[in-house]
Amino acid sequence: MVPAMAGTTAKLVLPDGKETQLPVIVGSEDEHAVDITKLRADTGYITLDSGFMNTGSTTSAITYLDGEQGILRYRGYPIEELAEHSDFVEVSYLLINGKLPTKEERQKFSTDLTRHSLIHEDMHNFFTGFPPTSHPMAVLSAMVTSLSAYYPDSLDRNSPADLHITRILSKVRTIAAFSYKKSIGQPLMYPKNSLRYCANFLHMMFAVPSEDYEVSPIIEKALNQLLILHADHEQNCSTSTVRMVGSSGANLYASIAAGILALWGPLHGGANQAVIEMLEDVQREGGDGKKFINDVKNKKDNKRLMGFGHRVYKNFDPRAKILKNMCDEVLQHLGINDPLLDIAKAMEEIALKDDYFISKKLYPNVDFYSGIIYRALGIPTNMFTVMFALGRLPGWIAHWKEMDEDPGAKIGRPRQIYTGEQLRKYVPIDQRTK
Ligand code: CMC
Repeated sequence: MVPAMAGTTAKLVLPDGKETQLPVIVGSEDEHAVDITKLRADTGYITLDSGFMNTGSTTSAITYLDGEQGILRYRGYPIEELAEHSDFVEVSYLLINGKLPTKEERQKFSTDLTRHSLIHEDMHNFFTGFPPTSHPMAVLSAMVTSLSAYYPDSLDRNSPADLHITRILSKVRTIAAFSYKKSIGQPLMYPKNSLRYCANFLHMMFAVPSEDYEVSPIIEKALNQLLILHADHEQNCSTSTVRMVGSSGANLYASIAAGILALWGPLHGGANQAVIEMLEDVQREGGDGKKFINDVKNKKDNKRLMGFGHRVYKNFDPRAKILKNMCDEVLQHLGINDPLLDIAKAMEEIALKDDYFISKKLYPNVDFYSGIIYRALGIPTNMFTVMFALGRLPGWIAHWKEMDEDPGAKIGRPRQIYTGEQLRKYVPIDQRTK
C-alpha cells in the first residue's frame, strides 16, 4: 500500500503551456515521490532518467535505505542489530516473510533448508563439462538456470512458490561450494545435515573425505555476519534485474540466475574481487597506494578506487563501518597479518582526506573490506562474488515474491527517446556509396 498525501499534487507546466497535476506519494519513512503513472496518457510526455538516478521503479516494504544518513534496515530492523544478534538463516526468513520467526517457525525453516541441500546427482555431470579455468560466477548462473529444468513445476507461475524458495536458498549454497571443489580438482563434499547453514557451507568448501574437518566458530560467525550485510539492498542493479526478468512471468530460478549475472560486473558485486586485485597491484608495485590514487584522480585509464563510492550512500555505508571493525577482529582472532589490510587502510586514509573524494562524496562501500575478510576465511578471490550472490539471495527472493504477490505488478518495460535517423528510403546494394 502506498501512503498518499491526501489530495496533494505537484504541478508540471509543459512547453506548450499545458499543465498537469501529478499525485504526490509518501513512503513510511517520509520519502516523497511524484507519481507519473498517468503522465504519458495525459500529456504525451515521458520522463528521461538515465541510470534511474531519480526513478523509483516500485514501492517495496522490504528494505529501508537512507543514503544521506547512512541508514540500512531490513523490515524495520537496523543492520547493526541484525549483524550483531541474528544469523543468516533468521535474516533470510525475515526478508522473505516480513517478520522474525518464532522458535517453531525458525526450526521448520532450518529443517526445510537442511532437507533440500542436495542437488540432483545428474547435475554433477554439468560441473565436469566446464573448463577448469571457468569463473565460478559463470558456473553458478548456469547451474541455477538448470535448476528450473529439474523442477519444471516452477514454470507454472501458479505453483506454490515456497518450495522453490526453500530449494534455491539451500541448493545455491551447495552449487557454490561444488563449483569451488571442481575448480581445484578435489572431490565434491556432500552437505552434512547436522551442521547449520553457514557451517555446512564451510564443510562443503573446505573438508576433504580423507580428513576430519572442524568448523571454526569464529569463521562461522564471521560468515553469518558477512552474508547478513549483503542480504538485501533494495532496488540495486541485480535486484532490479531479478524484478525485471520476473515481471515477464519468468520462473524464480531464471529470475535469480539473471540477478547473479547482473551482480557479476565490477561496478556491482564484482567489486569485491576487483578491490583485492587492485590492492595486489599496489603491493606488487611496492607502493602505499598514493600513485594509484593519483592515477584515479587523473582518470588515467579510467581507473577507479574500487570499493569506494555508491549511488545511494553519500555520507558513509553502514555496512562498510561494520566490516572495517570485523576485519580487524577476524584477522586478530585468526592470527593473520595481511599486508593488503595495511594497504587498504592507508589508501582509505588518503582518500578520505582528499578533496577529489570528499567533493564527490566517495566513501568506502561494502566491498572495500569484505574481500580481506573472505581471504582470511580461506575463500579464494574468484569466489568473492559468489559469496556476495549467496548473501544477496534472500533479498532477491524477497523482491521476486513481493512482485509475484502484487496483483498490480506490470511487466517492466521502460520507454526511450529515439535519436536515430528519421524515415528514409531503402537503397538497393548497387546504388550504395560508402
Ligand atoms: N573512484 C574514483 N572516482 C569515482 C569512483 C571511484 N570509486 N566512484 C565514482 N567516481 C567519480 C566518477 O568518476 C564521477 O566523476 P566525474 O563527475 O568527474 O565524472 C563521479 O564520481 C560520479 O560517479 P558516477 O559513476 O557517476 O556515480 P554512480 O552513482 O553512477 O556510480 C558506483 C556508483 C558504485 C558505480 C561508483 O561509485 C563506482 O564505480 N565505484 C567503484 C566500484 C564499486 O566499488 N562498486 C561497488 C558498489 S557497492 C556494492 C554494490 O551494491 O554493488
